[in-house]
Amino acid sequence: MTRQGTFAMLQDSPQVYGSATRFLHWVVAALVIVQLSSVFLHEVWDGNAFSQMILPWHTSIGVSVLALMAIRTLWALSQLGHRPVHDGSLQRMAVWAHVLMYALLIMMPLSGVLMTWGSGYGVHAFGSVLIPGADVPWAAALGMVHEPIAWLITLMILGHVAMAMHHHFGRRDDTLKRMVGRPADPQ
Ligand code: HEM
Ligand code: HEM
Repeated sequence: MTRQGTFAMLQDSPQVYGSATRFLHWVVAALVIVQLSSVFLHEVWDGNAFSQMILPWHTSIGVSVLALMAIRTLWALSQLGHRPVHDGSLQRMAVWAHVLMYALLIMMPLSGVLMTWGSGYGVHAFGSVLIPGADVPWAAALGMVHEPIAWLITLMILGHVAMAMHHHFGRRDDTLKRMVGRPADPQ
């Protein structure tokens, strides 16, 4: 395949999300679901094997989500104007819901970083100290939004998956297909 062809596959088009958007969507989705389910399961079933395996990696996974979301935001901005769209007023709703999800997906790990940095623990990821701890009351206070944001994201994800299923099984349109990489049928 030519270099131009590979680049075209990475890019979004009005018919289908490109491989870069799809990769970022599914990797971040998997990491966030692993984060939330490991914490929530630990709260209702202390000592379960899944949470015990994942929780020591909570910061490392969270910092990775933050880095991926920074890349994803720049990538999405570069793709504006040639992404798939919905018909009519649904498009405006979908754009707002997705912008809100991006904001929450950045604030989620960022609040974790602020909490652990500002309350003196520092940010430890992948066996290294990324940011040494400090006594920064405003950062520790901002970090308190970590838990409410986790609940908000959980609600948004449930609504989001319900909408994806509604599009696929109810409306029978191409919304899900274009996020799994199958272009819309030619109109
Ligand atoms: C996708 C990213 C993340 C998700 C979905 C997530 C989710 C959660 C959830 C649901 C909790 C339990 C709620 C609470 O007790 O506050 C929690 C706690 C915590 N998270 Fe995260 N987190 C993420 C990233 C991070 C990062 C990047 C850090 C640190 C740099 C971090 C540090 C912590 C700490 C220290 C706690 C315990 C707080 C406490 O017990 O008061 N998290 N996280
Ligand atoms: C696991 C089941 C999931 C399914 C079936 C799913 C499906 C989809 C579909 C079909 C779209 C395209 C929507 C459109 O074109 O209007 C989309 C976009 C999106 N999804 Fe999901 N999704 C899932 C999980 C998640 C999770 C867990 C998150 C958040 C962590 C998420 C965040 C987003 C965002 C922000 C977009 C906007 C498009 C972009 O810029 O990537 N999704 N999803």
